[in-house]
Amino acid sequence: MHCNSSAFPYLKMHAMNQQEYKFEFAVYPSLDQLSEEDAWLLNEAREVTKLAYAPYSNFQVGAIARLSNGELVAGSNQENASFPVGLCAERVLLASASSLYPRVPIDTIAISYHNNNGDSSHPISPCGICRQSLLEYESRVDHPIRLILGGMEGKVYIIPKASMLLPLSFTASDLK
Ligand code: THU
Repeated sequence: MHCNSSAFPYLKMHAMNQQEYKFEFAVYPSLDQLSEEDAWLLNEAREVTKLAYAPYSNFQVGAIARLSNGELVAGSNQENASFPVGLCAERVLLASASSLYPRVPIDTIAISYHNNNGDSSHPISPCGICRQSLLEYESRVDHPIRLILGGMEGKVYIIPKASMLLPLSFTASDLK
């Protein structure tokens, strides 16, 4: 069913205007086209997948951040027999960065994965909960987090600002 079909005429009838959300990101055919610094970071993220504890999904995610003070912080997914207890690589990384280097902005995070169940040739992007956490990290330190997303091979996405992945987001200011 189409949303703009006559089944939902009220959607347009009462709307004052239509809003559009767009964001731009860069797509590279492979890691070879990245700057030396970005290629190095994505390669490190690929290495970090080896630190994942993912015996249930067999889907190992590695993330590594370059902080604005030059330090590196890594995170990998950590699962549990009680499935909801598991943590994504991105939130493991954010918790470590915040604990080791409080208030230091994160410039870039590279995220990769290794999929025992299939190939790893397309970029994955952070899940909804991680998008929310990334957004809050950006606003806490007032600094955009660049994302480099790529599998063990294949194309790479560069997203200039993590919060672009979460339009109409719920933020601290909504609680006031
Ligand atoms: N996972 C991450 O660590 N990051 C993502 O961006 C997507 C999913 C983890 C969670 C779970 O351990 C496994 O990948 C399969 O969903």
